[in-house]
Amino acid sequence: MVNIAVFVSGGGTNLQALIDAQTSGRLHSGRIRLVLASNPGAYALERAKNAGIPGVVCSRKELGSQGGFEAAISKELEAHGIELIVLAGFMSILSENFTKQWPERIINVHPSLIPSFCGKGFYGLKVHEAALSYGVKVTGATVHFVNEIPDGGRIIAQKAVEILPGDTPEVLQKRVMEQAEWVLLPHAVEQVAAQMEKERA
Ligand code: GAR
Repeated sequence: MVNIAVFVSGGGTNLQALIDAQTSGRLHSGRIRLVLASNPGAYALERAKNAGIPGVVCSRKELGSQGGFEAAISKELEAHGIELIVLAGFMSILSENFTKQWPERIINVHPSLIPSFCGKGFYGLKVHEAALSYGVKVTGATVHFVNEIPDGGRIIAQKAVEILPGDTPEVLQKRVMEQAEWVLLPHAVEQVAAQMEKERA
């Protein structure tokens, strides 16, 4: 089984989808060994605790520099024998220095159909605000590998979601999560972990 770390910053509903997939056996080629939060207030840490998964905090602000932040993350990853990283609503930036050490070993979920509404400044509700103000009729979610380009790594999976009249950013965010993110992310993580297992067999 592949040892997985999930990086979080907020509510952690995507983390919950991964935990549920693990419990039901839909995610069986990997195991979540660590939840790493960018801030101590992340509700995702409660979800980790409830599932009996170790949780740690690495805060960019508290650690002072990008180098110090990434050194602390690397230390945690090593201590837990992590082989695959999943960014599930992780709002801190990882530098090229870090991402190049994990080629096609970091997965991110983004709440739009990349290459629309992605890159610097597009995160969380802002993505849905941008989609609504542009007036697109279809949006969705993308799961992709992370490289040095923000939201620029190879795409693993995408799912389209309809925009309906009267949608607010909050309503749209919830629909994109329910119909796309919570389905796609566990599936993609299983796919990548299964491939990693196969390669080392
Ligand atoms: C999710 O919608 C995720 O796609 C988005 O943040 C939300 C986190 O929710 N991520 C990004 O915007 C990354 N660019 P969660 O904490 O409930 O999983």
